[in-house]
Amino acid sequence: KTVSVIGCPMTFGQPFVGTDNGPEYLRQAGLLENLTSIGWRVHDLGDLDFHVNPSEVDLSLEKSNAKNSQIVGKGCEKVANAVMDAIKENRFPLTLGGDHSIGAGSLAGILKARPNTGVIWVDAHADINTPEMSESGNMHGMPVGLLMNGVGGDPSKIPGFEWLGSEDMKDARLDSSAIVYIGLRDVDTKEREVLREKGIKTFTMFDVDKYGIGGVMEQTLDYLLKDDKDRPIHLSYDIDAVDPILAPATGTAVRGGLTYREAHYVAEATARSGNLASAEIVELNPTLSNDEGARETVELGLGIVTSIMGKSII
Ligand code: ARG
Ligand code: MN
Ligand code: MN
Ligand code: MN
Repeated sequence: KTVSVIGCPMTFGQPFVGTDNGPEYLRQAGLLENLTSIGWRVHDLGDLDFHVNPSEVDLSLEKSNAKNSQIVGKGCEKVANAVMDAIKENRFPLTLGGDHSIGAGSLAGILKARPNTGVIWVDAHADINTPEMSESGNMHGMPVGLLMNGVGGDPSKIPGFEWLGSEDMKDARLDSSAIVYIGLRDVDTKEREVLREKGIKTFTMFDVDKYGIGGVMEQTLDYLLKDDKDRPIHLSYDIDAVDPILAPATGTAVRGGLTYREAHYVAEATARSGNLASAEIVELNPTLSNDEGARETVELGLGIVTSIMGKSII
């Protein structure tokens, strides 16, 4: 078994620099060695180049409520291509953010390659905004909304995202029944309406308290696998799902998150299902904390990724 490590140093989906260091910090902390030690053959693609020439950005299109959409959209196209290439070569795509806007690229690539994928979205936030709905205009709050059928308009109309309208990619969309959220605690008013109207499966922090994380994961997997025991699962893990006491180095921290064990349990239970086929970890920003906070956040992220990729305690 081989993993393709896809570094995605994106910062333009949110206001801070520093998320571009996420992939490098994870590698320096020992990611590749960890993967090897649990039996993976590692194919490290390095970091994708998200640099866009200023002359390629049409400023007259930057008025929309999707900030830096041309840079984010072109970056997402590269992510989607890298993910599709990995799957074609029978490799497990492991995407390292970067901010969560790259999730639009990985979702598109994964849904193109494996349309029946079920998604587990671990996050304090729902990231289901569209440019029309968003209060901030930050695209890291939009990856699910852009790709989901029946939410917002045609995403290929957004400058930078034209590629989503190609003959090849126009069907790579997410059904509202194909995603489960875990860890939600900061949802915008309009996002709440969408979650309710579409009947999207959510396990908020209230539900984590109510059912325990074991119950939440059991229900999550039952829900996604009820009609197809072999369904591929994509896990998108935003480090801000974890409590900021443990993961302070992130851009939109919200109190009351997953504990250390809950955070790992989500990863372990998903890995154990045997259905996990792709994963990403995002929103590590080592510059948004003191040295100790940065180190702890990166160490935690590394532990979570290693669990996602199959490390078990015994
Ligand atoms: N809902 C807020 C927004 O859309 C926050 C999104 C935070 N997203 C994230 N990936 N950390 O601006
Ligand atoms: Mn988040
Ligand atoms: Mn949509
Ligand atoms: Mn997120």
